[in-house]
Amino acid sequence: MSYDEILKVEGLSAFYEPRKFGFNNKKIDVLNDVSFNIRSREFFGLVGESGCGKSTLCKAILGLIDFQGKITINNMNREKGKYREMARSVQAVFQDPMSALNPKKTIGFILEEPLKIHKIGTKEERQRRVDEVLEFLGLDSSYRNRYPNELSGGQRQRVCIGCSIILNPKLIIADEPISSLDVSVGAQILNLFQKLHDSFDLSVLFVSHNLNLVYYLCDRIAVMYKGSIIEMGDAKDVYYNPLHPYTQLLLSATARFDGEKLITDMTKKTPVEDVTAGRCNYYSYCRKAKDDCRKLKNVLINVAGTSENPHYVSCPYYYQFY
Ligand SMILES: Nc1ncnc2c1ncn2[C@@H]1O[C@H](COP(=O)(O)OP(=O)(O)OP(=O)(O)O)[C@@H](O)[C@H]1O
Ligand SMILES: [Mg+2]
Repeated sequence: MSYDEILKVEGLSAFYEPRKFGFNNKKIDVLNDVSFNIRSREFFGLVGESGCGKSTLCKAILGLIDFQGKITINNMNREKGKYREMARSVQAVFQDPMSALNPKKTIGFILEEPLKIHKIGTKEERQRRVDEVLEFLGLDSSYRNRYPNELSGGQRQRVCIGCSIILNPKLIIADEPISSLDVSVGAQILNLFQKLHDSFDLSVLFVSHNLNLVYYLCDRIAVMYKGSIIEMGDAKDVYYNPLHPYTQLLLSATARFDGEKLITDMTKKTPVEDVTAGRCNYYSYCRKAKDDCRKLKNVLINVAGTSENPHYVSCPYYYQFY
């Protein structure tokens, strides 16, 4: 692991166990051989449609589910159960701020708790750190004595971000942190993330459906489709020069907010039921799929960009999509 990599994910596969009883008794494969890294101080965006495995990837990085492959965070190997050692390096912000905060505790208590758990500082030092974080969040010290239900959705999400930064972690996993919020409130939270980017020695894995938003905030972007990364590169390269047909489709839909266009494009080729092992994940929907694509596996190849900032795509026929 080179000195500036905070997170390294190598060959990560994950699945959900079948239920012991009932109808849902098939193993659900979600992630399939995912590899990427996040550099120091880098904001890394992960986009993809609902159900493609973004949250599952976050859960694996946070050690909440079993996985195959290797995850290294700040030079430590993630094994299931190593919560406490890892907690100071990696923290999370989730989609729903209400369920993330204990409704029976005050904001001051909630913010101080991680410091207490990790036995950091004296009572006064902890209080000072809580005030410092409240100020960074743009909340005055009177919020210390309020309960989560006395805050707005945006303020609650600010507190969640406060909990995630209070231990000075190296990496924050932000799983759709603004999607439950109103547009204008979401924009404020986005600005807060921008402020984090400018103020701290911190990397962020920012998960979203929205390629526009990820482009605005992130240095690099990975696009996920059905559990595999299909394109990854510098934010500018992926946004202005998308190579994979799926990224192009995603962009044409987000740029214009035109749901109809997305549907017409998706149905240009009728999905065929094809379960040939090893075929490209996107085969059924791809307008330019060839017979060869049935045998392809989604392997990322650096086809553009520089060696320092590679631009990976999993489709060997990408050059035909212009
Ligand atoms: N606990 C679980 N048990 C069984 N299957 C699950 C479980 N959690 C998620 N899944 C399945 O795994 C797949 C990936 O889910 P995941 O939550 O990672 O998607 P996602 O990309 O985060 O979607 P969204 O954008 O809607 O949040 C889905 O098909 C989902 O139904
Ligand atoms: Mg999710």
